[in-house]
Amino acid sequence: MNDAGPDTAAISSLAARRVWDSRGNPTVEVEVHCAGGAIGRAIAPAGASRGTREAVDLRDGGAALGGTDVRRAIVGVNDIIAPLLGGMDATAQGAVDAALIDCDGTELKTRLGGNAMVATSLAVLHAGAAARGVPLWRHVADLSGAGPSLPLPEIQIFGGGAHAGQRVDVQDFMVMVPGADSFDEVMEITSEIYRAAGKIMARRGKLAGVADEGGWWPMFDSNEEALETLVAAIEAAGETPGDRVVISLDIAASEFGRNGRYRLALEDRDLDRDQMISQLGRWLDAYPIASIEDPLAEDDAQGMAAFTAEFGHRVQIIGDDYLVTNATLVDRAADDGACNAVLIKVNQAGTLTDSMRCLERARARGFRAIVSARSGETEDVSISHLAVGLGVGQLKVGSFTRSERMAKWNECLRIADALPRGAYVRGAPLAKTWWGQRKEGTS
Ligand code: PGA
Ligand code: ZN
Repeated sequence: MNDAGPDTAAISSLAARRVWDSRGNPTVEVEVHCAGGAIGRAIAPAGASRGTREAVDLRDGGAALGGTDVRRAIVGVNDIIAPLLGGMDATAQGAVDAALIDCDGTELKTRLGGNAMVATSLAVLHAGAAARGVPLWRHVADLSGAGPSLPLPEIQIFGGGAHAGQRVDVQDFMVMVPGADSFDEVMEITSEIYRAAGKIMARRGKLAGVADEGGWWPMFDSNEEALETLVAAIEAAGETPGDRVVISLDIAASEFGRNGRYRLALEDRDLDRDQMISQLGRWLDAYPIASIEDPLAEDDAQGMAAFTAEFGHRVQIIGDDYLVTNATLVDRAADDGACNAVLIKVNQAGTLTDSMRCLERARARGFRAIVSARSGETEDVSISHLAVGLGVGQLKVGSFTRSERMAKWNECLRIADALPRGAYVRGAPLAKTWWGQRKEGTS
């Protein structure tokens, strides 16, 4: 990989500083300098509805800043990671990540902290690209061997669950626009839908600001009312639901389900596994939903397998909390017939190399993949480049407001200008869903 020359790409300094995320919580930024002058920087994001098996962020605890401070993680970067990686080739991502993983030595990255590790891994990635004089997406494509492609966005219109004080049970009510001809057109159509949703909520006296990822705050009386309003917004934007635009849901069921029991608090209903699956099935039948994430809880392997057996032939079923960007869990899910897609969150895995290993397993097992942000984000746009360079085909970064979200969509627009025509294939990621089957020939 090192076309920059071993000396110019050598890491000459690496240090962390404390910066702040979109929720006003402290987080870790790492800055890497190479001998030839190249610089790379990256910031760790933070989740709110976290999987129990994902890499653990190192936070200080105690009373200050609600226990969220990251001073220990920063000390670890400066005192342990910097000497470890000093002098290494910044373009040798695999070797850098292997050194990090080896030094941490724990399954959940508890020694160095997932936050310290992901910021370091991605800062080195940026430095490597800068040392080579190539854009980040190109560097990632060269590392991964994938042909770069522009992703199909999944964009939140209403936020819920842990991102909106549990105001509604379902976490993300999103749209995808597989029928758009370009990434730019996806943005335009989504903007119209987002506006229309806001107008409808204002008219009904239900406008109450936005949730953590910029989607409208869900002042609804039921989860179903959110779905109905979403359909109304798609129509008000001049689209026919299910034609160019489809719905995508992140149920994030681990937030309200345990031991095969599910509590829909908003509707004051307790469901068992089978009732939960039937409830979701009714939504899949009644609304143009092409993708659904974490439909059952992370501890409910039986439910995930039953759900996938029933609906996997027509809907994308994504494991987020269920798979936590973990190659072993993807293999297990494929063996069990649970899920048919994996969410790729680099900070769940800890390093880029861990994430690429997971993606490699996902591809080998016929799973689709979606690169995703977290609910706590920053101006860092690395994941836009990852989505393109890993060629995954889909990207989820939250809603269509707030700059920590828009920065990532806007970065994709810049990358689009640099990519050859044909890097965006209309609808391809949803080809195997009911939408693609109906639109045969569009992908
Ligand atoms: P999180 O949620 O970043 O709060 O964990 C995002 C998601 O569930 O996809
Ligand atoms: Zn999720």
